[in-house]
Amino acid sequence: MRHLIDRLEQNRKLTKDEWTELIAKGADREYLFERARILAKQCYGNTVYIRGLIEFTNYCRNNCYYCGIRRDNSNAMRYRLSEEEILDCCRTGYGLGFRTFVLQGGEDGFYTDEKLEKVIRSIKMRYPDCALTLSVGEKSKESYRRFFEAGADRYLLRHETASENHYRMLHPEELTLKNRKDCLWNLKEIGYQVGCGFMVGSPGQTAECLAEDMLFITELQPHMAGIGPFVPHHETPFAGETQGTAEQTLYLIGLLRLLKPNLLIPATTALGTIRADGREAGILAGANVVMPNLSPVGVRKKYELYDNKICTGDEAAECKSCLQGRIERIGYELAVDRGDPAKEPGGNYV
Ligand code: 5AD
Ligand code: FES
Repeated sequence: MRHLIDRLEQNRKLTKDEWTELIAKGADREYLFERARILAKQCYGNTVYIRGLIEFTNYCRNNCYYCGIRRDNSNAMRYRLSEEEILDCCRTGYGLGFRTFVLQGGEDGFYTDEKLEKVIRSIKMRYPDCALTLSVGEKSKESYRRFFEAGADRYLLRHETASENHYRMLHPEELTLKNRKDCLWNLKEIGYQVGCGFMVGSPGQTAECLAEDMLFITELQPHMAGIGPFVPHHETPFAGETQGTAEQTLYLIGLLRLLKPNLLIPATTALGTIRADGREAGILAGANVVMPNLSPVGVRKKYELYDNKICTGDEAAECKSCLQGRIERIGYELAVDRGDPAKEPGGNYV
């Protein structure tokens, strides 16, 4: 597979058949990871960026088959943080050196555009040197624009799968891939730094589906892409399905790095959940971001998208120093700045 890996690095694209073959074989792993590390170093040096994740509501109007906070999970203990509680998380995080906050939540009707705008303005007023990332699902272009004007800098919205058929296997009818993609294009047009992404090993996913994900990312040219293994949640229709593998997730991280050398790629909590050194392995496969939890310990277990999620018992300070140790032991260091996308070696941002 070396010829395809080399072609990907040189051309930054492959055909669908080439992607499918490469992903199905998953061969020459160490070679791929080495190329991925070299490219990550050219753009970002030895630096790993850190983002403080604030899971501010687990109410959700959607019913995705894989997700533990889907509306039909009546056993989920629902919570939402107040503006004050969110600001407290930021204060703790700022003191620990975080310069990016990620507000993530389910699609919660309580948090209207007005309320969210107010939270965004408060955070940006207190912490003008920080980047603010939103991850609150599908909204109208108008809403996205309002949040941007209120000061949000970045938006994470995983596309989940770029295959039409596969999308239908993961979501009920009211959700469409078309709308998901439209949201991502709208976000980009407005001027956000945009992150898409997908789960690896979700039910029904084939190498061809993953090839379509890579083609979509080639087309969208996002600033970030988050991928992690699918992990079943016991209160969802996918309770009995098998989880994705760390091996395949790592391989795809490596491929993403070659596809877009300056891409921001997190070593995700889900990867750390299925393998004890999953996040370290993610960095060594080409990832360059970690997203420790800043949510209050009291709500952490409740934001349970999948079973056995790690870090649910640890204070923010513990999570940060744990991660810092892990990163330093593999020869990298945590960044102190906002961690915006780097220029590529050739000099452009694209
Ligand atoms: N396993 C792994 N990842 C999941 N997500 C949701 N449910 C699961 C699961 N069971 C991911 C989705 C979503 C992100 C916030 O978490 O990709 O976009
Ligand atoms: Fe809310 Fe999936 S059920 S994001």
